[in-house]
Amino acid sequence: MAKLATKPYALGSNDSIALYIHIPWCIRKCPYCDFNSHAIRQPVASTIQAVSTSLDPELETAYVQRLLNDLDNEISHLERPRKLSSIFIGGGTPSLLSESAINQLFTGINKVLPLETDTECTVEANPGSSDINCFRAFHSAGVNRLSLGIQSFSDAALKQLGRVHNQAAARKAFTAARSAGFENINVDLMHGLPGQTIDAAMHDLDQAIALNSEHLSWYQLTIEPNTLFYSNRPDLPDEDELWDIYRSGLEQLEQAGFQRYEISAFKKPGRACSHNLNYWRFGDYVGIGAGAHGKISFQNPVPGIHRTLKTRQPSDYLASPKRLVNLLLENDVMLEFLMNALRLVEGFSLSTFTNATGFSATDLQPFLNRSKARGLLEFDQQGVKATPLGLRYLDDLLLMV
Ligand SMILES: C[S@@+](CC[C@H](N)C(=O)[O-])C[C@H]1O[C@@H](n2cnc3c(N)ncnc32)[C@H](O)[C@@H]1O
Ligand code: SF4
Repeated sequence: MAKLATKPYALGSNDSIALYIHIPWCIRKCPYCDFNSHAIRQPVASTIQAVSTSLDPELETAYVQRLLNDLDNEISHLERPRKLSSIFIGGGTPSLLSESAINQLFTGINKVLPLETDTECTVEANPGSSDINCFRAFHSAGVNRLSLGIQSFSDAALKQLGRVHNQAAARKAFTAARSAGFENINVDLMHGLPGQTIDAAMHDLDQAIALNSEHLSWYQLTIEPNTLFYSNRPDLPDEDELWDIYRSGLEQLEQAGFQRYEISAFKKPGRACSHNLNYWRFGDYVGIGAGAHGKISFQNPVPGIHRTLKTRQPSDYLASPKRLVNLLLENDVMLEFLMNALRLVEGFSLSTFTNATGFSATDLQPFLNRSKARGLLEFDQQGVKATPLGLRYLDDLLLMV
């Protein structure tokens, strides 16, 4: 039978905590997306519903107030005061928030968890639901990093992906973000799109590189259950084509000065996303908002790790939010650590593993031996990391834990 976690997790050296805030609405739902995101609808003439391009002011005020109550509640569950290390506002489409909602949110956060000028604070924006005023409002509220979901520079591909913007709007949004003062921008791009050739994928990367962003996230499109693409599967490139796109893309990004530090994350020097690094290094974070997850370590009465989960449906979250709490079992602690840390190109040190999980290096040895024999992992006295093959086939590597 699996044991409950009772190992002495070392928290002293990194006692800060990150904050994730979820905004669950989008103009419309993309057919590939399994995030907790819901198309906004505006009631018109009696019962008919129409798609809207902005949030109802009463709804967003109530939602932000809920978020702030949620944050107060989370802080009351911490067993000691902890410094805020980063904020990430994701979605959904946070750039749908109005200027007054953005100010309401940041005023509230600052009252309980003061932001310092160097606290990394990222907001996700969809080029089809953001403009320079929205970017200015975020920037003056203290947001210093923007993540722009461009996905592709082909209008045909964007249409197929159900995006609410074309490539011209994506470029315009990038320029607007720079004009609003953002010096740290991530661009999200996807590859392995329906019918995509290697030339088309490399052309997309060229266009993204030419924007000269500080960070690029390059995701292979995956078909997720409970999406429109799952029930109506588009024709994707085959394994060989995907492999060619992947290999050429990595080369192209490296030549352009982007350093890969995680499976899909590429940075210019000094521009890693510290919020995401905290997830991959198995750090603690508070999650607020509909469907938000959190991870919080504690010491008393015995050391352990809690996973938290909030009510998923926005209307239920607004009406009566629930906070589900799960105590991680010992074996899950090891698996979750590996699922995160092995995404990093640098991998992890054995002392980090022991501090974060309470397991000894000896406990890890059988997994290390099995996966090394398959060419998926390499290790020495100091550290462990996935090989290039292991990074490409991480799911196979994790099956060996
Ligand atoms: C929450 S979304 C980003 C923000 C914003 N909602 C948008 O789409 O512009 C995070 C990113 O995950 C990536 N993504 C979402 N679903 C994906 C899928 N099924 N396969 C690969 N990447 C995906 C997209 O690049 C997307 O920009
Ligand atoms: S805009 Fe982003 S979060 Fe919203 S449905 Fe599309 S991919 Fe998902």
